[in-house]
Amino acid sequence: MISQKSIQEIREAAKVEDIVGEFVTLKKRGVNLIGLCPFHNEKTPSFTVSPAKNIYKCFGCGESGGPVNFVMDHENLTYPEALRYVAEKYSIEIDETVPSREALEERQRIDSLYLINEYAQKYFAKHLFETEDGKMIGLPYFKERGFNEDTIKKFGLGYAPKGYKNLTEKASKEGYKLESLKKAGITSQKGFDFFRDRMMFVIHNLTGKVIGFGGRTLSSDPKSPKYINTPESEIYIKNKSLYGIYFAKTAIRKADECILVEGYTDVISLHQSGIENTVASSGTSLTVGQIGLIKRYTPNIKILYDGDPAGIKAAMRGLDMVLEQDMNVKVVLLPDGEDPDSYLKKVGADAFKQYIQGNANDFILFKTQLLLDESANDPVKRASLIQDIIDSIAKVRDPIKRSVYLKECAVRLQTDEQILITAVNKILYRSLQKKQQQREAKEIRETAPPPTEFPGEAAPKEKTKTKGDTFQEKDIVRLIVEHGDKVFEGDTTVATYVLLNIEEVLEEFDDDICQKIITESYDLLRSKKPVEPQYFLNHQDTRIPDLAISLTHSPHEYSLNWEERLSNPMQTQPMPESNFKRDTIAGVSRFKFRKITRLCEKNQEKLKTAQDEKNTEELMHLLKIQQKLIQIREELGKEIGTVGAIKYK
Ligand code: UTP
Ligand code: MN
Repeated sequence: MISQKSIQEIREAAKVEDIVGEFVTLKKRGVNLIGLCPFHNEKTPSFTVSPAKNIYKCFGCGESGGPVNFVMDHENLTYPEALRYVAEKYSIEIDETVPSREALEERQRIDSLYLINEYAQKYFAKHLFETEDGKMIGLPYFKERGFNEDTIKKFGLGYAPKGYKNLTEKASKEGYKLESLKKAGITSQKGFDFFRDRMMFVIHNLTGKVIGFGGRTLSSDPKSPKYINTPESEIYIKNKSLYGIYFAKTAIRKADECILVEGYTDVISLHQSGIENTVASSGTSLTVGQIGLIKRYTPNIKILYDGDPAGIKAAMRGLDMVLEQDMNVKVVLLPDGEDPDSYLKKVGADAFKQYIQGNANDFILFKTQLLLDESANDPVKRASLIQDIIDSIAKVRDPIKRSVYLKECAVRLQTDEQILITAVNKILYRSLQKKQQQREAKEIRETAPPPTEFPGEAAPKEKTKTKGDTFQEKDIVRLIVEHGDKVFEGDTTVATYVLLNIEEVLEEFDDDICQKIITESYDLLRSKKPVEPQYFLNHQDTRIPDLAISLTHSPHEYSLNWEERLSNPMQTQPMPESNFKRDTIAGVSRFKFRKITRLCEKNQEKLKTAQDEKNTEELMHLLKIQQKLIQIREELGKEIGTVGAIKYK
């Protein structure tokens, strides 16, 4: 146990810019530093480090914390491990308190699990090479499968002999406790050897320690499962382990890609052929924890599927969360009836590499095609397929990628892109709400985190009342964000119409974020750049996409009923979006009316002052302004009257 004093010392010494700087190239920007976020994939930097506050924050993915957190998250370390890491960096001597009895016992228990696994691995390997059965049954099996002796040794392969208690009795005699043998999954609860007459594959953790086994049967008895695996233990947590990761990690980093296969034998075969950036999920579908392991080394993952369509479809369904983890996923379908191991043997390493290179498909597009083929001519299936694809696209974190997918999938599905966009935004909005709730809950839980003052970060959360003109302001912003790039009339876009019509009151927004959006839109307009939703959704100041998304799904939203429309693609109702023109005119008038009224009031006050001060020149000037304002106000009043049943608030 690290003493409180040491913890304090370490925390005080740790400089966020030093620690983060080891892993991320940082550039100065104002008082802060900025770089590419190591926690998600990005091309423009949104990862900010504040030396003054000793914290980092990514405006893209929301990761934030202090130097010790960074080490924990980036290097996947526990808190004490991260503290040790930092201590070493700053040459701080750690003062350890005497560990509690519980802590000591836990340490010993875990160490003993590692020891037992190592012992068992040696036992199985020895049996493979040194016993009659091993030499007669085991070795020939592996050799026939094409594994050479170096490979067999490198992967620690072994053979578990026949008989019920060989290993358990031997280990007990040598001092291992039965209780521990059971905990490690080497001995069954009834006291028998867990693996009997099986070819043994060894599962290592990231650091190369043995944590479990997979045992393949040699019998063709259909009642005997082909593989049995070590049950979960304190050190073998299935959904956080990947078979082969210890041998693959360097190659994964180097290739900047991880190849994912299903089986133990696939991994070994590929490694032996020099394709060492390969790991296996060992039959289960990929989990978030496993992706976390891969993500330390690369964001690129290529999944190899056996050419068996039924299996692929099932596997696809579980894969959306890979997208959520911001990984670039490609899938390769092997020829019918082949798995990576068999296909590699058939065609050789070069042709294999070429094949997986040439047949790598983007995951979402592949899924789209797969489902499309399946649902050909079946409108009901088609509707659920579209929903399925929409769900996948919504999981993609990078908005630019998302919009590319939306375009591409709209073409393939022969659907209006706008419908897909609306549906995806709806999902995003829901998850945003959820995230906000979680964030708020977290803020309450955390004890006094340092207040952050990065540029563009939300001001301390106070419930800001919808004061003054916020309602009208948000309406204007919504028009710009949602419809800005649409044609209003001729070559006038909605953004042009709105912004030019409110030019006199362009600086009069009460709400900071609304003001920022409007000012930036106006700048875009003046530099002849399009004012389109993507601009706001991709904005680095996360308050902007947050507001943009929430506004386009605010209570003023029309009931889009897209589910219905999707399931009935022949229906050609006018899109509710076509109301945007009427909406625009009304919104602008209401906004201006409100602002002009305010200006009138302000001007009135100035008039009074000028009168009191008997400043005739100023008085004349202000009177002129007042006349003009009143005139505009009257015109607007008329307009609002003619726009239709719009209530003026
Ligand atoms: P496969 O059936 O594809 O096996 O299962 P394989 O690895 O290609 O083995 P060979 O080539 O037939 O000898 C893929 C993976 O699924 C897990 C194992 O991890 C296996 O490697 N599996 C399979 C099980 O855990 N239990 C089973 O009964 C079958
Ligand atoms: Mn196989």
